[in-house]
Amino acid sequence: MTQETRLVKFLVYGCQMNFAEAERMAGQLREIGFESTEDAERADLVLMHTCCVRETAEGKAYGKIGEIKRLKREKPSLLFGVTGCMAQKESDALIRRAPHIDFVLGTGRLGEIRRVVEELLLDRVPHFVDVSEGGALPEKVTPARQGTVSAWVPIMYGCDNFCTYCIVPYVRGRERSRRPEDILAEMRDAAARGVREVTLLGQNVNSYGKDHKLADFVDLLREADKVEGIERVRFMTSHPKDLSERLVEAVRYGKHLCEHFHLPVQHGSDSILKVMNRNYTTEKYRELAQAIRREVPGASLTTDLIVGFPGETDADVEALLDFLREIRYDAAYTFLYSPRSGTPAAKMDGQVPDEVKHERLERLMALQNEISLEINERLSGTVQEVLVEGPSRTDETIWTGRTRTGKIVLWPHQGETAGELARVKITQPQTWVLKGERLG
Ligand code: SAH
Ligand code: SF4
Ligand code: F3S
Repeated sequence: MTQETRLVKFLVYGCQMNFAEAERMAGQLREIGFESTEDAERADLVLMHTCCVRETAEGKAYGKIGEIKRLKREKPSLLFGVTGCMAQKESDALIRRAPHIDFVLGTGRLGEIRRVVEELLLDRVPHFVDVSEGGALPEKVTPARQGTVSAWVPIMYGCDNFCTYCIVPYVRGRERSRRPEDILAEMRDAAARGVREVTLLGQNVNSYGKDHKLADFVDLLREADKVEGIERVRFMTSHPKDLSERLVEAVRYGKHLCEHFHLPVQHGSDSILKVMNRNYTTEKYRELAQAIRREVPGASLTTDLIVGFPGETDADVEALLDFLREIRYDAAYTFLYSPRSGTPAAKMDGQVPDEVKHERLERLMALQNEISLEINERLSGTVQEVLVEGPSRTDETIWTGRTRTGKIVLWPHQGETAGELARVKITQPQTWVLKGERLG
């Protein structure tokens, strides 16, 4: 049977999980003849996979939804769907606000994308909304991956932690772990297609398997380490309350398990951590960081931080800055607290004014940049094993890849190919990247 080729343009916002899911939706759509395009003007279907973790993420999405209206006016047959976290949160309010949206699918309904698009193509029911919970992406569909060298592999969906600032547990539902054999089969398949690096994804990977009990996260990592052809296995995110010494040990002795821990602390003040409902203290976190440094020499440690949480005082901010000076992260992703309606923190007293938040964020970033640069400067003259990804975005002659610790390396291309492991001598370390030269 010959199928007409149609084009889909993906607009993906938010975290790596969203990118992984978009590739899985692309895989389902490929089965009914859709190929991906970068050019929205040529598309028959525009699919927007959204995020609502901060207000800015939603603002961006609404801006883009407005732009699509013009495309639809020029090409009335264009289908436009909104999926993911913001779709889950807003549901049919999205269509009331923007009637040019044809369909809305929540985070649990992404496995329906193929059926919904088929139906809309056939008889164009005016609108379709489904945000019911609990569904899963089909296991038998091969993701249409963007990258060739690295792959995102979700191991679990949802989150049970209910940090008081965070909307994720409300829009993604309870934790559901994929079966270990499905994850490992996907890794083997990816390896056969040339993938060399896999990042295992979950909101809290350390609680993997607590539902099905077929394997826990360390069991899974040990199996992932053995998948033929996969040179590097990464994972994120680890929650400090659940990260075990057993995991640290697994990374230490693992062959392909990368020496990088992304361990979001969120804050450095115990009283703020408590109202955030993070379930650990700075003392407990400090012990974990020390265990990582002791057991896995050279490991990198990165984090997420939120400033301007309700009730945050100047003294809390000083405690946070001191904590950063003490832990010395390789990198930190810093966010301004954004109230999300429906979460406990949004209703707390002591909301911090915007200008105070911004001023605190600047101090935080200035300190962290200093620390990141100092840490990277110590790598000057060292030789790093880099997984070659390809040309950098701005210059074809400068290629890029990452160290095992997850740092971006740039060097003048000397004939390397994507997917090979190269040795690069670091000559010019910077805050966010390491520049160097390829060794023969
Ligand atoms: N599950 C992961 C990541 C979740 S979202 C974890 O627990 O670390 C990614 C980051 O967004 C969080 O780590 C947090 O730093 C930030 N974040 C979540 N909700 C936020 C909010 N309401 N305002 C600002 N930042 C937020
Ligand atoms: Fe949000 Fe906390 Fe769950 Fe992370 S662990 S997704 S910050 S509720
Ligand atoms: Fe955003 Fe949903 Fe990820 S809210 S950060 S896309 S889990």
